[in-house]
Amino acid sequence: MRFESNPLSSLHKQNHFLVKFAVSFLLMGLAFRIFFSDSIRLSSVLETTPLAEQKPEPPLAEPKTEDSLAEQKTVSSLPSSPTFDFPGNESQTSQNDAKKCDIFKGDWIPDPSGPRYTNESCHVMEAHQNCMKNGRPDSGYFYWRWSPRDCDLPKFNPQSFLDMMRNKSMAFIGDSISRNHVQSLLCILSQVEQADEVYHDKEYRSKRWHFLSHNFTLSVIWSPFLIKAAIFEDMNGASSSEIQLYLDKLDNLWTDQFNKFDYAVIAGGKWFLKTAIYHENGTITGCHYCPGKNITELGYEYAYRKAVELVLNFITGSEHKPMVLFRTTTPDHFENGEWFSGGYCNRTVPFREGEVNMKDVDGVMRNIELEEVEKAAGIGSEKGLMLKILDTTQLSLLRPDGHPGPYRQFQPFPKDQNAKVQNDCLHWCLPGPIDSWNDLVMELLVNGDKYR
Ligand SMILES: *[C@@H]1O[C@H](CO)[C@@H](O)[C@H](O)[C@H]1NC(C)=O
Ligand SMILES: *[C@@H]1O[C@H](CO)[C@@H](O)[C@H](O)[C@H]1NC(C)=O
Ligand SMILES: *[C@@H]1O[C@H](CO)[C@@H](O)[C@H](O)[C@H]1NC(C)=O
Ligand SMILES: *[C@@H]1O[C@H](CO)[C@@H](O)[C@H](O)[C@H]1NC(C)=O
Ligand SMILES: *[C@@H]1O[C@H](CO)[C@@H](O)[C@H](O)[C@H]1NC(C)=O
Ligand SMILES: *[C@@H]1O[C@H](CO)[C@@H](O)[C@H](O)[C@H]1NC(C)=O
Ligand SMILES: *[C@@H]1O[C@H](CO)[C@@H](O)[C@H](O)[C@H]1NC(C)=O
Repeated sequence: MRFESNPLSSLHKQNHFLVKFAVSFLLMGLAFRIFFSDSIRLSSVLETTPLAEQKPEPPLAEPKTEDSLAEQKTVSSLPSSPTFDFPGNESQTSQNDAKKCDIFKGDWIPDPSGPRYTNESCHVMEAHQNCMKNGRPDSGYFYWRWSPRDCDLPKFNPQSFLDMMRNKSMAFIGDSISRNHVQSLLCILSQVEQADEVYHDKEYRSKRWHFLSHNFTLSVIWSPFLIKAAIFEDMNGASSSEIQLYLDKLDNLWTDQFNKFDYAVIAGGKWFLKTAIYHENGTITGCHYCPGKNITELGYEYAYRKAVELVLNFITGSEHKPMVLFRTTTPDHFENGEWFSGGYCNRTVPFREGEVNMKDVDGVMRNIELEEVEKAAGIGSEKGLMLKILDTTQLSLLRPDGHPGPYRQFQPFPKDQNAKVQNDCLHWCLPGPIDSWNDLVMELLVNGDKYR
């Protein structure tokens, strides 16, 4: 069985591009209001969304052929980076010769040991991702783990991770998916030590925690574009104006702190699909989705490549040399519609490889990430910088069962099983498949030099 995320899209792509462009433009802001803003008033969004009943066109689809993606490039081997010697890596046993192993290629295999934490043992889960508490009835999605085809991937060991991180500082930099990721890590670590929250910004988007007995500092920095951006969204995520993106300036929210980090997990992605005006050299050079503005449409790919390049140039050019993982874009699993048109994700088991095709936008973004990181890692390794790709896109694509769906809300069906609720098929339940991302993080931290 082949699952096409949007079987109609190629048909419509040719015929209705202009219409779609306009509709998409209107819907984009709303889409991201739901999924990437941080204080969400869902009911108001639903009530004020007159377009929600329109035809299920993907707001993000681009006029691309399937073929252009058939030749997706995978990264060939990178020059190996210098060895990092970590105390405590003896517990991380990669028996096999990991040199040729691609830890991102593999399968989800049954894992009877189940979740590493629960809503009772972990207190830092965001309500929208606390699927257990919110009443998600099935639990099969807990019982899988990622298994690379050609080598063993040890399960994340919170004790040896914390030992390794003694006196160290680690940051996750990106959007709400990065926060989802850091919460998974905090939950796994809470088996050994509960962290103290020592900082949060006004909107609770950037936070910092300290693990007292290990003197380990963990941060999440909300920087959805990684580059300088003016975002005009109020506390409810309503946008009053287009985003202004400065393609030649970094977001100093993270660059100012960069020297403090021993480890950084950086990710870009979906925010670049929003309507935005692009600035370079102090002038407007183009935009993405800005019809009626008489500004050249440059496409999100243009901005995304520039942004990733700028970020990686900063990292490879910095005197400070933390270990950096660049996480690839995260796929969503809306079926039979998008977020705004009744799309849902009610599958309860993973896909097997070949049962699902990556969406165009994810393929495009991931290719940019792989290419740019490969380039930068080569430059970086000459300077003693350990920069690795954390390629979670494909393995996450196989987990349509891992999203909150309607259970982003507490008890979404109190009385009426047919109540109309908003689905979240983008963020990940905690516990859930995103916990496996940390198995990969751990393996890269410990044995990174063995991988591409
Ligand atoms: C840790 O890993 C490095 C590189 O793989 C290795 O050289 C070193 O011996 C390991 N240390 C311990 C204590 O196992
Ligand atoms: C955890 O989830 C269960 C349902 O799986 C629920 O009964 C319980 O109240 C939740 N506990 C907390 C602390 O949220
Ligand atoms: C951590 O820092 C303390 C105080 O500076 C020092 O005594 C200790 O040896 C350090 N531990 C490690 C593993 O670096
Ligand atoms: C904690 O780690 C920092 C380095 O990140 C170090 O400067 C400091 O001395 C450590 N404190 C203790 C109490 O070990
Ligand atoms: C910006 O300026 C630099 C150098 O002044 C130039 O190389 C580059 O082409 C300019 N970029 C754009 C988009 O105008
Ligand atoms: C659009 O911009 C171009 C070049 O800046 C200008 O020549 C043209 O008159 C503009 N068109 C409209 C409708 O404003
Ligand atoms: C998912 O929902 C659709 C539409 O409501 C339904 O036809 C399908 O059987 C459901 N699948 C599962 C696995 O529950």
